[in-house]
Amino acid sequence: MAARKTGKTGSAKPRVLVLSGPNLQLLGTREPEIYGTATLADVHRRVIARGKELGVAVTCAQSNHEGVLLDRIGAARGKFDGLLLNAGALTHTSLALFDALKAVAIPCVEVHLSNPEAREAYRHASRVAGACVGKVSGFGGDSYALALEGLVRYLQRTA
Ligand code: DQA
Repeated sequence: MAARKTGKTGSAKPRVLVLSGPNLQLLGTREPEIYGTATLADVHRRVIARGKELGVAVTCAQSNHEGVLLDRIGAARGKFDGLLLNAGALTHTSLALFDALKAVAIPCVEVHLSNPEAREAYRHASRVAGACVGKVSGFGGDSYALALEGLVRYLQRTA
C-alpha cells in the first residue's frame, strides 16, 4: 500500500512528523517490562523504514519540553500532512498540546508504546485524544509504524 496522493503540503510525497515527548529518549533502559528494550532510535528507524515502503517522508523528533513540542506542532502547518504524537506524560495533562493540534488542524494519531488504559487510573484520560483522528497504543515500538499505516490510510481517504 503506497501513498499515491500528493499531500496538502504540495510535496510529491506526503510528509509526516513523528513527535515524542518527555522521557521517551530513555527508551531501551526505561522500565523495559513496560516499554520494551527498543531504543527511540530503533523506533524511529522502523517508522522511517515503514514510511519508505508506504511512499511517505517521515521526520522524527523528541523533546522533554512542552514548549518545544508546541513550537514543532505550531510550525508544522504547510510543512507536514500528518502527525504522530506520543506526548508521554503530557498526554494526560496538556491542554496546550490539545489546543495546538486543534489550531494547526493537521490530522494527528495519538501513539503509545504501552496501553495507558490498562495501567494506573491517572493514565486513563488523554487530553490530546479529542484533537486526534485516532490512537494506537499497546504494541511497543510497533505502535509507531502501525499508527503511520493508519494515518496514511486516513490521508488517502480524505485527500
Ligand atoms: C507513554 C504512556 C504515558 O502514560 C507515559 O507517561 C509515557 C509513555 C507510552 O508510550 O506508553 O511516558 O506515552
